Amino acid sequence: MIRTGYRIRAASPVDASAIAHVYVATWRTSYHNLLPAATLSNMNEMRETLYWWTALCSARASTVTLVVENPEGRVVGFVSGGPDRGQGAARRAEIYTLYLLQDMQRRGFGAALLSACAARLAALGFNSLVVWVLAANSARGFYESFGGIAAASKTIRVGDRRVEEVAYLWADIRSAAQAVADSGDGVGDI
Ligand SMILES: CC(C)(COP(=O)(O)OP(=O)(O)OC[C@H]1O[C@@H](n2cnc3c(N)ncnc32)[C@H](O)[C@@H]1OP(=O)(O)O)[C@@H](O)C(=O)NCCC(=O)NCCS
Repeated sequence: MIRTGYRIRAASPVDASAIAHVYVATWRTSYHNLLPAATLSNMNEMRETLYWWTALCSARASTVTLVVENPEGRVVGFVSGGPDRGQGAARRAEIYTLYLLQDMQRRGFGAALLSACAARLAALGFNSLVVWVLAANSARGFYESFGGIAAASKTIRVGDRRVEEVAYLWADIRSAAQAVADSGDGVGDI
């Protein structure tokens, strides 16, 4: 596991295009067997850049977006989270997105990002955490390995397909924040 020189930091609007690149590239490499081909090919980095630029410019104090950058300063992954968008308990946070470029996966960056984001959300006053994941996504193993409990499911429509999603819940957000031991607030060199 080579991680020397990588660091996690808060995202800013200038990261919008790098985040959009990671988002589109990772959807295409990770979801080609899970989602309709047309949905993936219709994804557009320019459109996603605009989305992230707007989101990061208007970010509320209750949301968190972090990136992991390599020693050359290139963004290779990111996480975002904030208030639960569902009908969950009060003070429940949600991880909205967590993506790493394919060749950056399984090096511990996902754990570091999850941990750092959960720590920041906990510091904002959230006390539990949820993340929705495609039921057929092997990333379920990632959330399970950090103590997430499958707590709900729903069917959503993506393009012309109905797909199942599963919610993983941490009743105590601090347990997700401790996914990486001694992570502190999780921001900085890793
Ligand atoms: C899911 C994802 C964020 C995990 O991040 P990561 O950096 O690859 O994972 P880590 O290296 O931190 O994994 C830590 C541990 O979690 C578990 N784990 C990680 N990915 C797993 C997988 N796909 N299946 C089963 N267990 C997994 C393993 O126990 C792993 O430890 P190990 O590598 O020593 O066996 C990343 O792989 C990714 O971006 N995947 C594609 C996009 C995606 O599905 N995102 C989630 C959307 S909800």
